[in-house]
Amino acid sequence: MAETGKTSSYWMGTAGDVVRPRLKGDARADVCVVGAGIAGLSTAYEVAREGRDVIVVDAQQPGAGETGRTTAHLANAMDDRFVELERLHGKEGARTAAESHGAAIDRIETVAREERIDCEFRRVNGWLFSAPGEDPGILEGELEAARRAGLTVDREEDPPVALHPGGALRFARQAEFHPLRYLAGLVGAIERMGGRVHGETRAVDVEEGEDGCRVVLQGAGEIVCTDVVLATNSPARHYLTTAKMLPYRTFAVAFRAPGATLRGLFWDTEDPYHYVRYAGPSAAPVLIVGGADHHTGTKDDGEDRLLGLEQWARERFAGLGDVTQRWSGQVLEPADALAFIGKAPGADHVWICTGDSGQGMTHGALAGMLLRDLILHRENGWAKLYAPARISVRAAGEYLHEGVSVGRHYLDWLLPGEVEREEDVQPGHGAVLRRGLKPVAIYRDADGTVHRRSAVCTHMGCVVHWNSTERSWDCPCHGSRYDPQGGVLNGPAARGLDPA
Ligand SMILES: Cc1cc2nc3c(=O)[nH]c(=O)nc-3n(C[C@H](O)[C@H](O)[C@H](O)COP(=O)(O)OP(=O)(O)OC[C@H]3O[C@@H](n4cnc5c(N)ncnc54)[C@H](O)[C@@H]3O)c2cc1C
Ligand code: FES
Repeated sequence: MAETGKTSSYWMGTAGDVVRPRLKGDARADVCVVGAGIAGLSTAYEVAREGRDVIVVDAQQPGAGETGRTTAHLANAMDDRFVELERLHGKEGARTAAESHGAAIDRIETVAREERIDCEFRRVNGWLFSAPGEDPGILEGELEAARRAGLTVDREEDPPVALHPGGALRFARQAEFHPLRYLAGLVGAIERMGGRVHGETRAVDVEEGEDGCRVVLQGAGEIVCTDVVLATNSPARHYLTTAKMLPYRTFAVAFRAPGATLRGLFWDTEDPYHYVRYAGPSAAPVLIVGGADHHTGTKDDGEDRLLGLEQWARERFAGLGDVTQRWSGQVLEPADALAFIGKAPGADHVWICTGDSGQGMTHGALAGMLLRDLILHRENGWAKLYAPARISVRAAGEYLHEGVSVGRHYLDWLLPGEVEREEDVQPGHGAVLRRGLKPVAIYRDADGTVHRRSAVCTHMGCVVHWNSTERSWDCPCHGSRYDPQGGVLNGPAARGLDPA
């Protein structure tokens, strides 16, 4: 499987690759879905079930994006918390968020059962802990807000594990699964219904005309269709939506957990927060710990963060064995905490799903149901809450903060280079060098060959930074990422770094 980084997740190590051929030539379909992660494949599945002719294209292969790097908690106990959702979206909005994420978990359960997908789906409880030194009233407030949103939640003084002392909130009917096995099952189901799935097929442009849409493919070829779903995690050229979210790197470590029988989701209120679950068969259980997030492109200390997570876990979970995998990935945090799912602003037949907010599994599954209804012109009570064009007045402070955070990174143009000479870049590493006014991304490969690209992100001109953990060039502004030679790994950039 092609990947968006150097590290590999637990899921990549425990699922067979799903490889589909490149689309050769042109194609026609009712609906073209661009991107074969949880959002794209859920949407393709739902639309195919309604008898629509669907084609899915992915620049890499199904599951090669962030869905392969998740930790796959399935929760409608929202990680931005209900007190915050009520502030940003009102009590009704918080209720709709809980209902729609709950429906997403139900949908995954039903699809896994009906399509006989062996994806280790399991209903579990979730426990939320407050961070040391925090006002204990935080949990009390969250308990009331979560109940107002319709969740079954209780205070538990003696939870089965303690991320921190002081008890926790226990949320019923959360769930867990193996995301890549689920995606493999969706691919099979889509194909059984007559849908087509292609890997190694990058969309480079979408044109919408009076008689339909054209998806232009890299190299040659196009797909003519009535509707296009951009499920690329971060769609290119939708600047107004992209501007309402910030990219974060988040880290995960999987440990052998011999003899562990407990199952559940565990997370806390620290900033950045920790998230923990068990996985694997009873003969080989693992514990997966995630957290240590930082704003993309602003730090290059992934190894320290992974070590910090490992130490944090060993202090709390007795008897942990070896580390089996350590990885990182990217989440997009929308200013008002909920994904953007619906009609792309300014379009009639182009649909997007982005802004996962660390709950991309449920956002992706609910996108499948919501986009299906919108494409089929059906009413859906969730549409307003997730509308990509929304501007929430209550999130004005968050929009301002994000605008300032992004604007600040344009000052990187004024900074000196990270190294003064190409010779200072070690094999296997990259650094930004300044040539006059121009920042240049220098990568020296293991053989010593130097690769030079412009360090200016092709999305909107911020300066990229080297990420040694994933061996990539990462842009702090909206999260575009490039491989060491400058090819695009993550949008919203639509093309690679220019020659230096
Ligand atoms: C460490 C980590 C832990 C997480 N934990 C959780 C969790 O516990 N629960 C949860 O709900 N969420 C979690 N998330 C978030 C979740 O994993 C993501 O939000 C989700 O996987 C995003 O799915 P997606 O389908 O939107 O994008 P992706 O899975 O990234 O899929 C997008 C696809 O589009 C393809 N693509 C991109 N550009 C093009 C193009 N131009 N043409 C064709 N194809 C293209 C890519 O190759 C990719 O396969 C976590 C994320 C990380 C990184
Ligand atoms: S991702 Fe927008 S400028 Fe780089």
